[in-house]
Amino acid sequence: MPALPSFPIDDLPAMWLRDNCPCPDCRDPRSGQKLFQISSLPAGLRPGTVTGPVIGAVNGPVAGPSSDGEPSVEVVWYPDGHRSVYPLSWLAANRPGGVDRGDRRTEDGKELWTAADLAGRLPRASWPAYLDEPGVRARMLESVLRLGFMLLHDVPGSEGQVLAVAESFGHVRETNYGRLFDVRVEPAANNLAFTSARITPHTDNPYRDPVPTIQLLHCLVNEAAGGESGLVDGFAAASLLRATDPAAFGTLTRTPVPFVFRDAGTELRADRPLIDTDPLGRIREVRFNNRSIGTLRLPAAELDAFYAAYRTFAELLLRPELRLDLRLSPGDCLVFDNTRLLHARTAFAQDGSRHLQGCYADLDGLASRLTVLRRADSLEPLAALFAGAGAAEYLGEPVSMAEHMCQAGARAEAAGAPPHLVAAALLHDVGHFNESADSGDAGESDRSGDTAEGAGGAGATGTVSGHALMAGTDNRHSHTGADLLGRWFGPRVTEPVRLHVAAKRYLCAVDPGYHERLSEASKHTLRVQGGVMTAREAAEFAALPGAADAVAVRRWDEEAKEPGAVTPPFEHFLPLLTGLLRG
Ligand code: OGA
Ligand code: ZN
Ligand code: ZN
Repeated sequence: MPALPSFPIDDLPAMWLRDNCPCPDCRDPRSGQKLFQISSLPAGLRPGTVTGPVIGAVNGPVAGPSSDGEPSVEVVWYPDGHRSVYPLSWLAANRPGGVDRGDRRTEDGKELWTAADLAGRLPRASWPAYLDEPGVRARMLESVLRLGFMLLHDVPGSEGQVLAVAESFGHVRETNYGRLFDVRVEPAANNLAFTSARITPHTDNPYRDPVPTIQLLHCLVNEAAGGESGLVDGFAAASLLRATDPAAFGTLTRTPVPFVFRDAGTELRADRPLIDTDPLGRIREVRFNNRSIGTLRLPAAELDAFYAAYRTFAELLLRPELRLDLRLSPGDCLVFDNTRLLHARTAFAQDGSRHLQGCYADLDGLASRLTVLRRADSLEPLAALFAGAGAAEYLGEPVSMAEHMCQAGARAEAAGAPPHLVAAALLHDVGHFNESADSGDAGESDRSGDTAEGAGGAGATGTVSGHALMAGTDNRHSHTGADLLGRWFGPRVTEPVRLHVAAKRYLCAVDPGYHERLSEASKHTLRVQGGVMTAREAAEFAALPGAADAVAVRRWDEEAKEPGAVTPPFEHFLPLLTGLLRG
């Protein structure tokens, strides 16, 4: 085994390290959630003995540090003797003092803009493309986080369709305006939005705490003269205020402003500053609505300072160069960050017809949806292998490579196997696609019991390499496959893949009828792969940590060569695979 780098555990804060113990007594193995109270840890906690780095063999949880089969450090704690095993990869990724990127709600990591910055590059897409193509959807949702909005075209003009848009990335937030609200001229309007009046840049529902963090406006009809829309980046305006009048900026971050709304059935009030900053002083929320600011009750001098600052900020927000003008056409749906962007419309002619439908949703749901989409995105290279090289014939078997592997995954699933085994069965032969990942190190000793000599032939990534195997050279596809999969998955997935060839040699040794059940092609490759194991090899194999899992995968492998069987496509397994991605 190569020497592992040493790791200075003693420099790490003891309470922090213990709080992140991955053992199944400290964290529920399925959810990764903590099972202990911070207050129940003993006082005077410190690492007693530290061993390693070693190759750990502990079953870790799904979330948080997982140590099965990875180079790890073992800590036995003083005074309670508790044992924790930390993978080096987890320690390296989570070292104290790393970069703090915050929560993606502050100005950090966003692109602040004025109208000219967006000329020719509006974040927009057509609704069918957004629905059909995960890449388009991810790009648009990312725009809401980075620029504060997206514009969808071709959203069907039917009533209530705006709810489907909200549900495409999150959850509708119902308010006193309903789950869905109509923006059109109403006879007895409880809000200026429901008249034909000009509405200057504002955020919605400032009198609500928590405020809805996303707003959607879907245009059904816009035939009136006027009624143009406008968007202003409130973070850009606030940052401009901070640069030009820091005292005014400070006043607005420190003054709670009463926002109020009342009608016959509702009386809402929230007291929040016009500009809210996070604990590090970064702009995090802009709340601005001239229509609904109530009466401030402060000492006179503070009222003077507030009104001066409020006026300066309001003038800034009305600057034409900050405002992106657009006219919504039927089918357009604007989705924007209501804690950052201000929206506006010009007045429109009373006699023309104009009808928008709106609803609210929230940024946390959108961010979650984007993160999950990106997980699936990261699996794109695997999906491409199944669609491309996977369609090729499989070593003289009556099924294609992709069919074979999808059948193996389906068998595992039908047997009620846990997700990591379904994944291992589905992916066990990816090494056949990827011979170039094997850089000719086949003579290197390993711990799998699969000890055949000989490197695979040269083959481009994504080509089927099994021909070398059939021609008498072991392409070591179980190893190249496991190594390739290590990019996405932990050892619970990769090790059964690594051992699935050894498992065939093992099963032929311990199960007298097994050899007969092999396909002709598999009998042929068995010889190239080292033949039936000796009794000693079989005993060594059975003692390996992943042996039982590898044997299970192997049995599904054998069954998965059925021509014409109804087989789920690779995409069927995507949710299961994304759930197994290493964090
Ligand atoms: C609103 C609003 C803008 C418009 O309903 O909150 O600001 O274009 N409407 O009518
Ligand atoms: Zn509004
Ligand atoms: Zn196979």
